[in-house]
Amino acid sequence: MTEPLLEANDLDVSYGRGRRARRVVSKASFAIAPAETLALVGESGSGKTTVARAVVGLVRYDGELVFGDDRVPLTPRRSRELRRQIPIVFQDPRSSLNPRMSIGGIIGEVWSTHPEIAPGGDRRTAIAELLGRVGLDEDVLDRRAAQLSGGQCQRVSIARALAQRPRLLVCDEAVSALDVSVQAQILQLLIELKTDLGISMLFITHDLGVVRQIADSVAVMQHGEIVEIGATEQVFTSPAHAYTRELLDAALDLVADHGTTTTGDEQE
Ligand SMILES: Nc1ncnc2c1ncn2[C@@H]1O[C@H](COP(=O)(O)OP(=O)(O)OP(=O)(O)O)[C@@H](O)[C@H]1O
Ligand SMILES: [Mg+2]
Repeated sequence: MTEPLLEANDLDVSYGRGRRARRVVSKASFAIAPAETLALVGESGSGKTTVARAVVGLVRYDGELVFGDDRVPLTPRRSRELRRQIPIVFQDPRSSLNPRMSIGGIIGEVWSTHPEIAPGGDRRTAIAELLGRVGLDEDVLDRRAAQLSGGQCQRVSIARALAQRPRLLVCDEAVSALDVSVQAQILQLLIELKTDLGISMLFITHDLGVVRQIADSVAVMQHGEIVEIGATEQVFTSPAHAYTRELLDAALDLVADHGTTTTGDEQE
């Protein structure tokens, strides 16, 4: 693998303090190369979101995280610069957008706190360009989140992340709440961002069909540990861990029951 953009070595995360402390992520190690997508899968409660929270600096961790050439501080107190470079997109698109702000305001907000990355020319034009980039019409610029569909809101969340000029985009179940056809469109958009802009991704999902479409490599979590990690094809075709085989079998049953898990071609 080329020099990783993000490297996690023996990442531990606990919730609670003192005798109440409970470790929910143990010795998680993984690396993400530039323009590479690592998917994180595993059952509910296995620690996927907690890993994401450690990576974006929402929770304290122990162990080592290295981003580019720099050690990432253990506590959530990060430099503005580092926070800017690692945004997160959550599952529920609507609740992560400020209902009182216009879509244009939401997307361009980061440029007030980070004038160094603000576009040189007209901001409205720059925002319209970002909207186009995520497949939205310029006329949503003056609307509010409540006036958009779930899929449109998720595109706005992605545009907002892009305005930050991220190097690593963390997506926590970012397409899970969307219906299958919209999901496919957003996935396609994320794949394009990776190819066109060279953005790396940590992509959390419980859908193995989605993993296969988007991820170069995949880490399988169980009870707070990464039990298997490898190139997606490798893990899918010859899973080494019993739990991975279980996940794959369960996904196959799903396909047998429902015909398909992730593709569709209705319109948004
Ligand atoms: N803020 C918190 N305080 C205490 N415990 C927490 C907190 N957040 C999560 N946990 C616990 O940590 C463990 C891992 O949770 P996490 O949200 O990381 O799992 P997950 O793999 O993302 O699950 P899901 O697929 O349901 O989103 C769970 O046992 C959960 O109950
Ligand atoms: Mg989660």
